[in-house]
Amino acid sequence: MIDIHCHILPKVDDGSQSMETSLDMIATAYDSGVRSMITTPHCLPGMFDNFAGDHMQRRWDELYEAVHEAMIPMHLYQGMEIMAFDELPDFLREGKVWTLNGTFYFLVEFSFREDPSYCKKILSSCLSAGYVPIVAHPARYYFVQDDPSLVYEWYMMGCGIQINKDSLLKRNGYRAYEISNSLLRHHLVSCIASDAHGRDFRTTDLDEIREFLIREYDEEYAYMLLEENPSRILEGKSLVGYTSLPY
Ligand SMILES: [Fe+2]
Repeated sequence: MIDIHCHILPKVDDGSQSMETSLDMIATAYDSGVRSMITTPHCLPGMFDNFAGDHMQRRWDELYEAVHEAMIPMHLYQGMEIMAFDELPDFLREGKVWTLNGTFYFLVEFSFREDPSYCKKILSSCLSAGYVPIVAHPARYYFVQDDPSLVYEWYMMGCGIQINKDSLLKRNGYRAYEISNSLLRHHLVSCIASDAHGRDFRTTDLDEIREFLIREYDEEYAYMLLEENPSRILEGKSLVGYTSLPY
């Protein structure tokens, strides 16, 4: 499996707070069947100013070397979880933020109470600039819980949709659980990721969600969400999916 969203880069955001924790998180992922991970620290202007540059590259190289020294055969790739802001299309064009493994895909998040028209404006302008947003965990946003048809709109615009394994496992409240499953039934999900923040909760274990998907949906869907589309994101290829159903 491939995890395209996890906070395993130590001491840069509210994810892992030490190299030891990061190595534990990566080992847990490996034991659960994950072979590739995209590190996606928050890029949240004013709170986590993690923009592309030497500082972030050094932090990433340190993790890469530590994983090599610990002899964990995990493939690591660069990315960020970028909070939407007005200048984002320019920042993408100018290389000031990291896309997912340097492709045209990037991981974007919104405030839980964002104005839906702002989301649409930012997503449209990024698409026009040639970049494809992968919208992180929409089922957690209150404005999506109130109106899940927004996700249909984003999907039809050409965005990718990522949901968190913990939402599907009822660890982010009932609404997020309900909406995640509803999005899956409407074929509006491109991939599922851990969004792991630590080793004890919000973990990097993806096997539990693979088992859930096989049990509640089917093996083909699990493969598409945890392997096929994540690998297409890594390689900059078009995403696949079943015909989506409107709300
Ligand atoms: Fe995240």
